[in-house]
Formats: sequence, C-alpha cells, structure tokens
Amino acid sequence: MNISQDAIPPQARALITGAAKVATYESTGERVTSQFVEHNLNLIPAIAPGSIIHDNACGSGTVTRAILTNPSPPTNIQIYATDIDQPFLDKFSTDATSNAWPVTISNQRGEALSFADETFTHSFTNIGIIFFSSAGLDGAKEIQRTLKPGGFAVVNCWQSVAWQPAVFAVHAHFRSKHPFPAPTTNWIDGKHIRKVMLDAGFAEEKMKVEASEAWIKVGGGDAGFRVWVEKTWAYLAGIAGWFEDDEKDWEDEVNMMVKVLKSLGEDKGVRVGDGEVLLRASQWVVVAEK
Ligand SMILES: C[S@@+](CC[C@H](N)C(=O)[O-])C[C@H]1O[C@@H](n2cnc3c(N)ncnc32)[C@H](O)[C@@H]1O
Repeated sequence: MNISQDAIPPQARALITGAAKVATYESTGERVTSQFVEHNLNLIPAIAPGSIIHDNACGSGTVTRAILTNPSPPTNIQIYATDIDQPFLDKFSTDATSNAWPVTISNQRGEALSFADETFTHSFTNIGIIFFSSAGLDGAKEIQRTLKPGGFAVVNCWQSVAWQPAVFAVHAHFRSKHPFPAPTTNWIDGKHIRKVMLDAGFAEEKMKVEASEAWIKVGGGDAGFRVWVEKTWAYLAGIAGWFEDDEKDWEDEVNMMVKVLKSLGEDKGVRVGDGEVLLRASQWVVVAEK
C-alpha cells in the first residue's frame, strides 16, 4: 500500500511496521473487505470441486479465508495467492500452514504474474485493482490473461468510506501547509472499474457491475473506539506523507478524528450507539465471465 515510511512518528511506527501493520489492517480495513468477499462470493456460481483460484493482491488471505472457512467449503481446490507486501504474506503463510490450507503463496506484482495463460477458473482481486499501475489496467490485463475461458473474475474498488472525510478534516487542520494529494484516478462512481475490465478484454455482455455496502461495529465504548480510530489514522494518514509535527500532535490528531467521525451522522455512514459506533463503507464490484 502506498504509505509513506519516511519521518514516520513513533506512534504510527508501532502500529504499521512489520507484523504490527498486518494486525492493524486486520482490525480496521479488513473488517470491511472481508464482508465484501462474503457478499461477492454469492454473485458467482458455487465454486466447483477442482477449481483453481487466484487470490490476487491477497493481503493476509482475506479471500482464501472466506472460501476455505465457509461451513461447506469447495473440495479439491487449489488456491494461488499473491501480493507484494511480505509481512502480509508471512502472516498468511503462518495461518495457511497451521490450517493445512491448499494454498501456494508468493510475492508477485499483480501487473506481472508468473502464471501461464488460462490457468485459473476464478480470479479474485479484493480491493487490489486500485493499486495496480496504469490506473488498474496493467493488473486487469493479467487477470484476463490468466483466467480460463468460462472462468470468473471478481474485482472491486471502494465507492465510499465513512472515515475518509474525518481523515481529510484532521489532515486539513493539523497539516494545513500540505494539501492531501488528489487521487490520480476517480474510482468512486464505478465507471472506471468497468472501463478497465472492458479495456482488458472482458466482454460487456458477460459482465455485471453493482454497488453494495458493509457496516462494521466498533465496540468497547469510547476507549475501544479511540483505539480503532488511532489505528485507522496510523494506517491512512501516511498516504499524504508524515510531517514533523505529527509526533507532537498525535494525541490531538486522534482525538479530533474521534470527534469528527462521531459528529458525521447516519446519512454520512456513522451510527453512534450505546457503547459502540457503526461505520459504513461501500464497494463497486465487477463480476466478469471470460
Ligand atoms: C486493501 S489491501 C486488500 C488486501 C486483501 N485482498 C483484502 O481483501 O483485505 C490491498 C493489497 O494490495 C496489495 N498490493 C498493492 N499493490 C500491489 C501490486 N502492484 N501487486 C500486488 N499486490 C499489490 C497490497 O500489498 C495490499 O495487501
């Protein structure tokens, strides 16, 4: 992920380096991405015995885990999982070994996969295409190339994230000399992800595009919510880079993000309950049959 490692304040370093980064992601963003997978697996026919599956930009194995921990998992399948972030792959390998999962894990860029043409019956890229070069196209071409005819590609991107405006507000307040970098590609209206898949060679008549939302519940009262916010700030604030005053301002930055998020209201995807906060995120998902 494109997170700056320069001038990283110690508070963030403790949360987003090495194995800690994986734990931070698993307790924040992955709580949403795992719900997207569960939803998206219902958009395709049941995975048949003998399937050969790519878990692309796999992180610590979100897609693989969803498939294999299903109450009635598909039998006799083989999964190949790839990513470029070694701490994520290391955590995934530990889990795969202890569960004896049928998965082969390797460090590969989604834009230059080592797999032969027409290898996979299924290719899942769960919140990964946005990181691929040429605004996703280089990875989409690899998905198309490595899928068997008749195989399914499932690719998604963010539509909205309730905590993003709070990150922007804290950034604007404490780091006002440094505008948050504008995204180079607009993924949020669902048009780009569709276009990328068409440009990669998938046929319009064999493609479905839809949006769906997921909610996460952050419990533990005020203290639990602050822990979640601090991890989220640590994970996302570095997208704009780290600045000299972040170490000194850290507690105030986190406190402001807590306050802004809680004030957003239900129409902006935030529901404050008794001792818990519910937060919404949504996706655009493309299911394409080759
Ligand atoms: C938001 S995470 C999604 C992880 C996981 N698929 C999930 O559903 O939670 C994005 C992942 O894309 C990976 N990634 C970023 N650029 C990549 C690239 N060029 N090739 C392969 N993986 C990449 C990151 O390392 C990260 O694990």
